[in-house]
Amino acid sequence: MNILQVKNLTKSYDGVKALNDLSVSIQKGVITGIIGPNGSGKSTLVHVLTGMTGFNSGAVVVDERVELETIQPYDVPVYGVTRTFQDVRLFNQMTVLDNVLLTLTERGVFAALFERHTALHEEKARELLEQVNLWQKRHELAGNLSYGQRKLLEIARALAMNTEVILFDEPFAGLFPEIIKLVKQIIKDLRTQGKTVVLIEHNMVLIRELSDELLVLDSGQLLASGDPEVVLQKREVVEAYLGE
Ligand SMILES: Nc1ncnc2c1ncn2[C@@H]1O[C@H](COP(=O)(O)OP(=O)(O)O)[C@@H](O)[C@H]1O
Ligand SMILES: [Mg+2]
Repeated sequence: MNILQVKNLTKSYDGVKALNDLSVSIQKGVITGIIGPNGSGKSTLVHVLTGMTGFNSGAVVVDERVELETIQPYDVPVYGVTRTFQDVRLFNQMTVLDNVLLTLTERGVFAALFERHTALHEEKARELLEQVNLWQKRHELAGNLSYGQRKLLEIARALAMNTEVILFDEPFAGLFPEIIKLVKQIIKDLRTQGKTVVLIEHNMVLIRELSDELLVLDSGQLLASGDPEVVLQKREVVEAYLGE
């Protein structure tokens, strides 16, 4: 079953087609890796799927049922998608704990007006921060964390959304081996829980280890897709990388 289908999607920036009539499918409950040379449209695809940027034409189909011709950021958690950013985005002037609590209680304007941090929220925040090894740092301002810790906090916030699909845009970039190990485990645990993971990553060792399915983008188009080992052997894929 395809939880997300991108159909003939085009997204231009000032005439440059970052996504060019792209059609791809994301299967439910597996880890789909996305690779491609720099500028091939990987991040743009994630921006589009999360309503961070609009698109010129095409559609996104959710759950093989709902066809979206526009996507608004506030619709995205409703249809079941959340993401992390290639460049980490947090509330720097808030504590680590508050960054997670904010996500846990952010449930639309009305809910936010009336909802308080209940014991249940605090318990969930603790669970998430323990999972990413940041519970000891909970009273620190997010702005004071190291780069690796900031990436982990961003992941905790994405997990707090508890959506069906989580999109990771280069989560491993710049991380120390210990933290890489932790992030790998988090991604594998999501699959165990039946969640759908989309993983943009340059490191082929990590892609091979984690991906069940692999998509290769090149110039905003799909170059190849399928079983990672098969895809990585394809001549056009090897050439796209040698030509980079
Ligand atoms: N905000 C933007 N404004 C203008 N051009 C952009 C913007 N974001 C991306 N692009 C262009 O779109 C193309 C795809 O970029 P991107 O999706 O970031 O690629 P990737 O993540 O695969 O490296 C590139 O040519 C890039 O320069
Ligand atoms: Mg990118």
